Amino acid sequence: MAGKAPLCAFFLLLLSTSAAAIRPARSAAATAWRPALENGLGRTPQMGWNSWNHFHCKINEEIIREIADAMADNGLAKLGYEYINIDDCWAAYDRDSKGNLAANASTFPSGIPALADYVHGKGLKLGIYGDAGSRTCSKLMPGSLGYKTDAKTFASWGVDYLKYDNCNNQGMSPQPREVDDPGTWAGGVGNSWRTTGDIKDTWASMTAIADKNNKWASYAGPGGWNDPDMLEVGNGGMTAEEYRSHFSIWALVKLPKVKNNIIQQTVHTFKQAPLLIDCDIRSMSKETKEILSNQNVIAVNQDELGVQGHKVQQDGDQEVWAGPLSGGRIAMVLWNRGSTEASITASWSSIGLNASTVADAHDLWTDEVISSVQGELKETVDSHACKTYVVTPK
Ligand SMILES: *[C@@H]1O[C@H](CO)[C@@H](O)[C@H](O)[C@H]1NC(C)=O
Ligand SMILES: *[C@@H]1O[C@H](CO)[C@@H](O)[C@H](O)[C@H]1NC(C)=O
Repeated sequence: MAGKAPLCAFFLLLLSTSAAAIRPARSAAATAWRPALENGLGRTPQMGWNSWNHFHCKINEEIIREIADAMADNGLAKLGYEYINIDDCWAAYDRDSKGNLAANASTFPSGIPALADYVHGKGLKLGIYGDAGSRTCSKLMPGSLGYKTDAKTFASWGVDYLKYDNCNNQGMSPQPREVDDPGTWAGGVGNSWRTTGDIKDTWASMTAIADKNNKWASYAGPGGWNDPDMLEVGNGGMTAEEYRSHFSIWALVKLPKVKNNIIQQTVHTFKQAPLLIDCDIRSMSKETKEILSNQNVIAVNQDELGVQGHKVQQDGDQEVWAGPLSGGRIAMVLWNRGSTEASITASWSSIGLNASTVADAHDLWTDEVISSVQGELKETVDSHACKTYVVTPK
C-alpha cells in the first residue's frame, strides 16, 4: 500500500460519548481564535499507539488485541499511553445493507464492539479511523461524506477516539479556508489536528516535519493540539540518537495553553504534540522501550501548563528549542542537526530567563543535574543527537 496522499491533511478528533462531537464547525475569522472543543478531552496531548506507520493496511483484530496486551503488560500503559488506535483499512469495502460502516469480516471477524470491550478490559481506550471524503486514503473503505450517522455508529460501538482523514473529499473544504492548514479551523471540531504531511521513518522527513509544525505553535492550547504525526521510534529507519531527538522534540512541541476562551481554534487541548507510538510494541528492542519510557521526557509532554515549545535559537545546524513548564521551569533541547559533533550554547535570553538567573539543569536522558548554571548552558552534542533539559531557576 502506498502512503497516504501527500495533501491529505487530516486531523484527529476525540469522541465524546455522544456523537455530537462530529458537527460542522461554525465559521470564524481567519485571524481569530475560537473556543476549542471544550468536551473535557485532550487537556494534555493524547498518548497511545497507532497502526499505520508500522502495519499500514496489514492489520487484523488479533494484532490489535496483542498490541493492547503488550501495552498493558510492558509498563507503557502505566506511563500514560492509553489509546490503541486502528488506522485505515479496518472496514469492509462496502457499507452494510443499512448503509452503516461494517468491519471487514475476514480481518475483524469479532467486530469492533467486541474489540472495544477487549481493549477497555485492559484499562485502555480504542481509537478508530474515518475519512471526510467518499473513500478513505487507501480507497479500501468507504468515507463518511454524506453519512453523519457514522459518528453515532462509532459511539455506539464504544469507540473513544476518532482519527478523521480528508482524502477523496471531492474538492470540498471542511471550512472556507485552506484545507491543509487545519491549525486555522480544526479547534472547533477536534482535540488535535495534523499540521504536516505524513512522516516517514527517516531523519530528513522527521526534521522537515519538526520545522513545518513549528510555525503552528501559536495555534494550540489545552483541548486542542498540533499534531506533527506519529512517532517512528522503533521502526528501524533512524539511529538511536535520531530517535531520541525525535522523541524529545515531539514531547516539547505542545501547544500554547489557553488562559481564557480566546484561543480555541484548531486542536483542542493543547500542550505538546500527541505521543502516538507507531512501532510493533509486541517486539520492541530494549533501546526503543527505553526511549518511549523516558518518564522525564513524557512529563515535559504532559506538563499541566500546556504551552508548545518551539525553536528559539538557530546557528546553522545547531538549534535550541524551548518552552515554559509549570512552576516557572523551562524545557530546553540542544539539538545538533549537523553531521559532526558540535558545541551548542543556549543563552538564557533565548529561553526566556534573565541572564542573571541561576538555575539547575536536569538532563532528562542521563538524569544528571548540572547545578547552578548562570546566563547560558554550553554543551557538546553528538551529530544528530540532542541534549534535553528541564531548567529550574533557583
Ligand atoms: C478484507 O480484508 C482483506 C485483507 O486486506 C481484503 O483482501 C478483502 O478484500 C477485504 N474484504 C472486504 C469485503 O473489504
Ligand atoms: C528579569 O529581571 C527583571 C528585573 O529584576 C524582572 O523585572 C523580570 O521579571 C525578570 N524577567 C524574568 C524572565 O525573570
